[in-house]
Amino acid sequence: MDIKSAKFEISNSDYRKCPDSDMHEYAFIGRSNVGKSSLINMLTGRKSLAMTSSTPGKTMLINHFRINDSWYIVDLPGYGYAQRGKESRAQLQRMIQGYILNRTQMTNLFLLIDSRHSPQKIDMEFMEWLAENEVPFSIVFTKTDKLSKENARKNVESYCNKLLETWESLPPVFVTSSTQGSGKEELLAYIDEMNRL
Ligand code: GTP
Ligand code: MG
Repeated sequence: MDIKSAKFEISNSDYRKCPDSDMHEYAFIGRSNVGKSSLINMLTGRKSLAMTSSTPGKTMLINHFRINDSWYIVDLPGYGYAQRGKESRAQLQRMIQGYILNRTQMTNLFLLIDSRHSPQKIDMEFMEWLAENEVPFSIVFTKTDKLSKENARKNVESYCNKLLETWESLPPVFVTSSTQGSGKEELLAYIDEMNRL
């Protein structure tokens, strides 16, 4: 799929104020600093469509980007950033959960996991919560350029095996690097397929 246009539309703190539209939308979530905004820039081929930062906690709102005037990409704030105060973390969590549980236009949620890390409790719990709430999601491993090819493959494999200890099957899995552009075609083809449903 070609991305002919990608435009920032609106930022919100409340899902009820998100665009009134019946177009498909795909949201990106994961721990702070995992590379959500960078992945969105990589997928759209726009360097600074979504704001990125080496400091965690950059994205603070629900951000809608209109793609090809026919679907949306949604950049969400990260979870689990310890430096943030308890109250502010709880507020972000309410915002994210409100969006995920109520935004009927959300066709799929992409959950990003840093390919360098072994499974973390916070991500496992988040996936359990998604499953309990029947939220359709896929897993996207990020930053594979920071590992050798072989180590990236091994890490992804052992992560998936860990999930299969408690899960009957895996959701779709993508392996990406935003600096190298890997995984782009696979992700866009998957979105294209869902757009046609
Ligand atoms: P929050 O909005 O704070 O939750 O972070 P985020 O998940 O949107 O992460 P962001 O895209 O801002 O990236 C965080 C840092 O990781 C930045 O310094 C990026 O340059 C870097 N980064 C993201 N993706 C990649 C990648 O694929 N490879 C490498 N080497 N660095 C990456
Ligand atoms: Mg971000």
